Amino acid sequence: MEERPKNTFYITTPIYYVNDIPHIGHAYTTIITDAITRFKKLAGYDVFFLTGTDEHGQKVEKSSQEKGLTPIELADKMVIRFQELWKALNISYDYFIRTTQPIHEKGVQKIFQKLKDKGDIYKGTYKGYYCISDENFLPEDVPLEKEGHKICPDCGKECSLVSEECYFFKLSAYQDRLLDFYVQHPEFVRPHTRMNEVVSFVKQGLKDLSITRTTVKWAIQVPDDPEHTIYVWFDALNNYLTAIGYDWNLELYEKFWPADVHFIGKDILRFHAIFWPAFLMASGFPLPKIIFGHGWWLKDDTKMSKSKGNVLDPHVILKAFGPDPLRYFLLREIPIGLDGNFSHEGFLHRINSDLANDLGNLVQRTLTMIFNYFGGRIDSMGEEQTEDEALRLAFDTLKSRVIDHYEKYNLNKALEEIWGYLNKVNKYLATHEPWIIAKDITQRERLGRILYQAAAALRAICPLIFPVMPESMEKIWTLLGEENSIEDTRLSQFDYKDFRITSNILKPDPLFPRVKLEDFLKEKDTGIPPIQKEDKMEQITFDEFKKMDLRVGEILKVEHVEGTKKLLKIDVNIGTETRQMVAGIADTYSPDDLIGKKIVVIVNLKPAVIRGIESQAMLLAAEVSGKAIVPFFLKDVPAGSKVR
Ligand code: MSP
Repeated sequence: MEERPKNTFYITTPIYYVNDIPHIGHAYTTIITDAITRFKKLAGYDVFFLTGTDEHGQKVEKSSQEKGLTPIELADKMVIRFQELWKALNISYDYFIRTTQPIHEKGVQKIFQKLKDKGDIYKGTYKGYYCISDENFLPEDVPLEKEGHKICPDCGKECSLVSEECYFFKLSAYQDRLLDFYVQHPEFVRPHTRMNEVVSFVKQGLKDLSITRTTVKWAIQVPDDPEHTIYVWFDALNNYLTAIGYDWNLELYEKFWPADVHFIGKDILRFHAIFWPAFLMASGFPLPKIIFGHGWWLKDDTKMSKSKGNVLDPHVILKAFGPDPLRYFLLREIPIGLDGNFSHEGFLHRINSDLANDLGNLVQRTLTMIFNYFGGRIDSMGEEQTEDEALRLAFDTLKSRVIDHYEKYNLNKALEEIWGYLNKVNKYLATHEPWIIAKDITQRERLGRILYQAAAALRAICPLIFPVMPESMEKIWTLLGEENSIEDTRLSQFDYKDFRITSNILKPDPLFPRVKLEDFLKEKDTGIPPIQKEDKMEQITFDEFKKMDLRVGEILKVEHVEGTKKLLKIDVNIGTETRQMVAGIADTYSPDDLIGKKIVVIVNLKPAVIRGIESQAMLLAAEVSGKAIVPFFLKDVPAGSKVR
């Protein structure tokens, strides 16, 4: 193969499972990738940005059954949800791969066959535990929970025993080559701290990997052996090759492979940093250059999950603020490798202070003054004076530092530096007080110089912020009289002094209106769940607490209460007897969601009659945005067990 062209850049997101709608975590990976793509384009690269959906496997199969759909019907619906979200977030991908596309399926089968012919794939029998949620085989040393059941150490879900004939990939044969490769390529796994994790996992010894199933039907078939289907991770990882033309567009493939960087979440690092390079080594492809494992977003310090009801839907924030504040917050708040915490207060504070105050006000003030004092066109400013050159000189340093941060994927640092510069511009105006000078007609040139500097500085930072906030920066750019898109700018040729004194400045509308927390939380129709106010309740003694008889209850029977939308009549076994109760949870749970589940009930609360039915116990649930979220036990506990 010929050497890949130097100025090409291939960047990918993981492909997302279509078992559920996208949330802020998926948006995060995709926003990072989009910002880097946009930066690389401004830096002059020919970029290929790939994203897509992971549509096969047991998880999607199971989820589609639960929703009463076929897997492909579910996938078709979900793909639209992902694509709509990427549009709303201004994601500029070049290709969206779906693993159900023939080009992908054929490519995966071809690679499978190649490895089988080579002897790297062989037939055997697998006996072990499988986590459907992570689509992962559990290591042998995970202890038994009960006969035939183990708990997945990564996601905490129950896993059952699988015993079937399958094909194995000779992963063990690649252990030393992988370790050698990590030594030769210390940049392969980023952040660097994560490399240690990978190396020590490999050093513990790699076992051959089962890469087919006989019990999963919703998957790509093994060539010439229709009883077997291909393991979803072998299928999914190869998307990075099939999407870039492997086996269907050689020119594209040769232009972009190997990938420059795969952005992924830290939870799927092992698949990318161990299995993926081993598959590629086996099939003779060059290896990607960087696997970057980003951190996780938590909601109010807890992991987001559907059962907790705290999953953040990006659409609701987008509806209230548009794409840029969310893009900015996620990239500014934390370095890419670390975990972040999303709270509504934190989000508002950051955008009010950085976007509404520091940037928005500056644009507003500067442009309004140019408009009011000069009718939108600065007509004279004389020669630049020493007192005015500081912003220009500081910009040159800023530009090279910001480029360096972007190159190293330190996006939060790049933004931090830019905001440091914005503060300088704000200070410059505060020190030189153009609004005072404007009153003195003899100082018109001086006034022109000050406003020129501020406007030139603002124009100059537009391409630097553009990768993160493309929409707002294009707006500022246009307000400052530029006719082309920022996308046509090349950072290497871009200069502060290119701002023309004759530019026709437009009068701005507020770019980032300030939002008050109270208004933000009141805005019910944004759909953003209000922050739960802590009820200040009086303290109670332990004896008072002990008066409550809380027990584990097993749900036996569930019916809708006639004539109501919200009420369910539930029969619950509390160990000693069965009680009936009425609970207002029908808008969150269907009877099928509940039957067989173990929950917490208070059994010595005075009975109440609700809609003519005596409710003899009450279940405990969290209230989230007016909806009840019931805590279920993850481990099996006998009905009637005391809860304290
Ligand atoms: N389908 C696999 C990836 C195959 S790539 C060949 C998968 N899909 S996923 O939909 O479950 O997750 C996709 C990405 O979303 C992962 O990188 C994961 O880390 C990321 N996130 C999911 N929840 C997240 C947060 N709460 N925060 C940040 N990112 C997280 O895994």
